[in-house]
Amino acid sequence: MTVRYEKAGDVALLAADNPPVNALGLDMRYGLQDGMARALEDGARAVVIYGHGRTWFAGADIREFGKPPKDPMLPDLCNTIEASPVPVIAALHGTALGGGLEVAMACHYRICLGDAKLGLPEVGLGILPGAGGTQRLPRLVGFAKAIEMITTGKPIGAQDAHDTGLVDTLAAPGSDLRAAGLAYAEMLLASGAPPRPTRAIPAPEAVDFDYAQRQVAKKARGQLSPVTALAAVAAAATLSFDDGLAEERRLFNTLMETDQRKGLIHAFFAERQVSKLPELAGVAPRETDHIGVIGGGTMGAGIATAALLARRHVTVIERDSAAAEAGRKRIGTNLAGALRRGKIDQQTHDALRDDHLSTATDYVALAHSDVIIEAVFEDMAVKKQVFAQIEAVAKPGAVLATNTSYLDIDEIAASTSRAADVLGLHLFSPAHVMRLLEVVVGDATAPEVTATGFALGKALGKVSVRAGVCDGFIGNRILSAYRTAADHMILDGASPYQIDRVMEDFGFAMGPFAVADLAGLDIGWANRKRLAPTRQPHERVPAYVDRLCEEGHFGQKTGRGYYVYDDRNRSENPDVIPLIEAERAERGTPARDFTDAQILRRYMAAMVNEAAKVVGEGIARRPLDVDVVLLMGYGFPRYHGGPLKWADLQGLPDLLRDIETFAEEDPHFWQPAPLLNKLVAKGASFDDLNKDAQT
Ligand code: 3HC
Ligand code: NAI
Repeated sequence: MTVRYEKAGDVALLAADNPPVNALGLDMRYGLQDGMARALEDGARAVVIYGHGRTWFAGADIREFGKPPKDPMLPDLCNTIEASPVPVIAALHGTALGGGLEVAMACHYRICLGDAKLGLPEVGLGILPGAGGTQRLPRLVGFAKAIEMITTGKPIGAQDAHDTGLVDTLAAPGSDLRAAGLAYAEMLLASGAPPRPTRAIPAPEAVDFDYAQRQVAKKARGQLSPVTALAAVAAAATLSFDDGLAEERRLFNTLMETDQRKGLIHAFFAERQVSKLPELAGVAPRETDHIGVIGGGTMGAGIATAALLARRHVTVIERDSAAAEAGRKRIGTNLAGALRRGKIDQQTHDALRDDHLSTATDYVALAHSDVIIEAVFEDMAVKKQVFAQIEAVAKPGAVLATNTSYLDIDEIAASTSRAADVLGLHLFSPAHVMRLLEVVVGDATAPEVTATGFALGKALGKVSVRAGVCDGFIGNRILSAYRTAADHMILDGASPYQIDRVMEDFGFAMGPFAVADLAGLDIGWANRKRLAPTRQPHERVPAYVDRLCEEGHFGQKTGRGYYVYDDRNRSENPDVIPLIEAERAERGTPARDFTDAQILRRYMAAMVNEAAKVVGEGIARRPLDVDVVLLMGYGFPRYHGGPLKWADLQGLPDLLRDIETFAEEDPHFWQPAPLLNKLVAKGASFDDLNKDAQT
């Protein structure tokens, strides 16, 4: 029974009970339709709808998207509720989102618990509110607020909803929802309140929709849904309510057919799928209350901040007291930022900074740590030395983690006598902000140590992805491949600025060379030096950027790299093209033109091919793991769903053909991934592998 029916005096109560989030799937829609009919047959003078469990309806059932729609459809259900001859009251709690909020807006009155969140997040799924939300919300809160809520998809708090007229009355957090809804209904009946259909409210005063369109398009950066959703809202200003609904439906159906919708919904489910690993079912994680961090530099300070914000006790070890003090200062700045952004209050801030954090130079201070995360320089000899010191003091059962970006975790583990306790916890910079965590599992890592990595990731609010050991794990390994493709194109005639523009047009917030400037050109420089001794003669590695580094130009932090930085503005560095041209001349490589389409194709083919190798070798368990890593850690445009979802949508045979063509020029770099060959031969997709992994 997804909707439980009850009659209390003159009031019928419909309690939605479809865990975990009361999604408005077919059964729920039937249940509500039947419940409304039964209430009227029963002679109820008012109807209260509320959600059992943790929330009011969190939206339409996303799993039904892309399948043939079944009656009763949500817009019709909303119209039925709104047409009720007796008042219908929505009693909201938890998250009233998407179709859930649309049902609430079709009700005549709304009461809401003080800690509820209300929103129309559809644009984040590549669609728009399709059950009257674009027509009813402006009538309740005005165009400006409706545009903001609908085009950003960001939910608002109960107080804001009350202040703007979206809800009529607030109940204290923790109140009994059924009782609060019933009391409100009785009060309305006593005062003779009539049904109050939202559609009867005249459309509010129009705003400058052209201006709004320009603003929304600028922020959307290629994403279709916010701009289309705005068009649906604008219809409310010019069309009758019913015509507005029809226009909303037309635009909704258009978006439903787009690859962007498929990409965004893939991203939604992939993010929730990554931490579901059969090998961890039933494996209990170890404690994660006390976290030790070695190194208080960029990453160490970020990791310590993330752990503090998750209310852990944190001990940071540095080389000397000056470095320890510098680390404490970095953490202090991060915590002050969290306070400024309202993530923590002053009291919590002070407690975290003064009571939860300690710094030391003696490793003995780590004796009580449950998890110790090393974030010292990226150098194998230094890491091994640090692990020897950790091992000497860590309590039995402590998890010993490294934040290395590239180094061999099995080699680090083998240098200790507790290899089963060792794993990689690869966070991304800034570690207290970026939500990705690669949990890197070594040959000897014990299952409960992996489970602890995932448990800590969850506590820190991260999306954790399992990765195997190889140079760069999932993300940095794939990054190296597409960066190499970009470097080759530069040596062959493209400019870094053209490549950045093409990739930014594709939807990346920054192209690869702007990213290199942000990360610091010194990182790539050090990596090139590290790999130089094992480099094969056929490998083409550009040297021009080393010239910039030799002169101390490391990108944003020194104000100069591929670009010159002046406050927040960037402009092309005039030294770069001559350096590239000189290198081409030295190598005897004539420059040729690349079209934007050719650049995109090569860049993406390199990314997909390496990603297929990563999956084929078992470094990533499933294609969706790669997608989540690139989406959460590398700025891959979410509306393309991740590189392997994008590849599926493009068609794997065409991509393989491209790779084979590129291989005619450079057979070393462009070796097709065996998995890609296999999928094309079988006529299968990466998504088929995702599905196989679930069964
Ligand atoms: N449909 C189907 N399944 C849903 C769902 C939905 N709308 N929302 C959540 N779920 C599932 C999740 O996939 C997850 O399943 P799993 O346990 O098998 O992995 C489970 O419910 C719990 O979800 P979360 O892990 O995300 O739980 P949280 O407590 O962290 O978050 C939430 C809860 C804030 C409600 C979050 O799930 C969320 O944001 N959901 C999506 C809300 C949304 O986008 N609604 C709009 C839908 S589109 C729509 O309504 C169209 C309409 O306009 C016609
Ligand atoms: P960093 O240079 O900012 O910080 C390293 C810190 O370690 C310094 O403060 C140094 O004093 C300290 N340190 C060095 N040896 C030590 C020792 N023996 N004992 C205690 N402290 C010691 O470097 P960063 O960028 O924080 O990188 C650290 C690690 O994180 C590296 O392995 C790096 O590859 C990895 N990483 C870096 C990312 C980044 O974007 N910077 C992203 C993800 C991982």
